[in-house]
Amino acid sequence: MQLSVKHLLGIRDLTRQDIQLILDTATEFKEVLQRPIKKVPSLRDVTIVNLFYENSTRTRISFELAEKRLSADTINFTASGSSVSKGETLLDTVNNILSMKVDMVVMRHSASGAPHFLAKHIPAAIINAGDGINEHPTQGLLDAFSMRERLGRLEGLKVAIIGDIMHSRVAMSNIYLLKKMGAEVMVAGPPTLIPKYIQEAFDIRVEYNLRKALEWCDVANVLRIQLERQNQVLFSSLREYSLAYGINKRLLDSLNKEVVIMHPGPINRGVELDSDAADSKQSLILQQVENGVAVRMAALYLLSGGRGSMN
Ligand code: CP
Repeated sequence: MQLSVKHLLGIRDLTRQDIQLILDTATEFKEVLQRPIKKVPSLRDVTIVNLFYENSTRTRISFELAEKRLSADTINFTASGSSVSKGETLLDTVNNILSMKVDMVVMRHSASGAPHFLAKHIPAAIINAGDGINEHPTQGLLDAFSMRERLGRLEGLKVAIIGDIMHSRVAMSNIYLLKKMGAEVMVAGPPTLIPKYIQEAFDIRVEYNLRKALEWCDVANVLRIQLERQNQVLFSSLREYSLAYGINKRLLDSLNKEVVIMHPGPINRGVELDSDAADSKQSLILQQVENGVAVRMAALYLLSGGRGSMN
């Protein structure tokens, strides 16, 4: 089977079958990653550039490791220290890199739509590793993979996405994906951090009370407050945010059920999530990071045509 898309720009463009195919392929690659030799020849002869115009720890390392596990040749580009500081445009930078016979581009950029722009102008397959406040498709996929792995299904699962929805590309990719896969979705947080259009546009629930959101959901996907993307004051202080929307173990223990806690990272410990909750057995946070490698292997493999050996 093949994906219906040439690029992975967003979950918005994927069909339910595409998502299923990526998650099932990731399951096979996760098995590969349990072996003593964690490397397969699937992308031998494929060269991939990781183009990061914005900071990253998890996504950049995870893509690089996924590429190495697939035997691809990889090169890493970060905007800092490059000729971007001399005024070189995005398109010139990428065309210069592609002239060195590069086949695929993994790209993170602070501007929403940057990978979509590139996709219109270059022949190589592009994977969006996070664009502004638009989408972070591989994060949405690894979150779904982790939920399915822990709870056995996505259909009918109740997922609350909690916190700074307004500035979150992770929220957008999760909403598109979970709705396509038949989950029930709620966004929760302060009214100033939840876009007014979201309930009607996506047919999801909105909740401003944290306890009610936690009482409703099976999974709480907790988001970072993205101060770097906020150019106005949207809540009074981090302390007040934490008092109203911070999740700790005492709050989790006071519920009549075990809610699974997720977070894309990096965590603002003591703001949206206390350490006793982030590091508890209810937390999937490190499994999310582990699963990211298998999910990115699947995305790279399928976008390269899915023809090489997976073993
Ligand atoms: N989850 C995520 O995108 O983390 P990084 O910004 O560290 O890549």
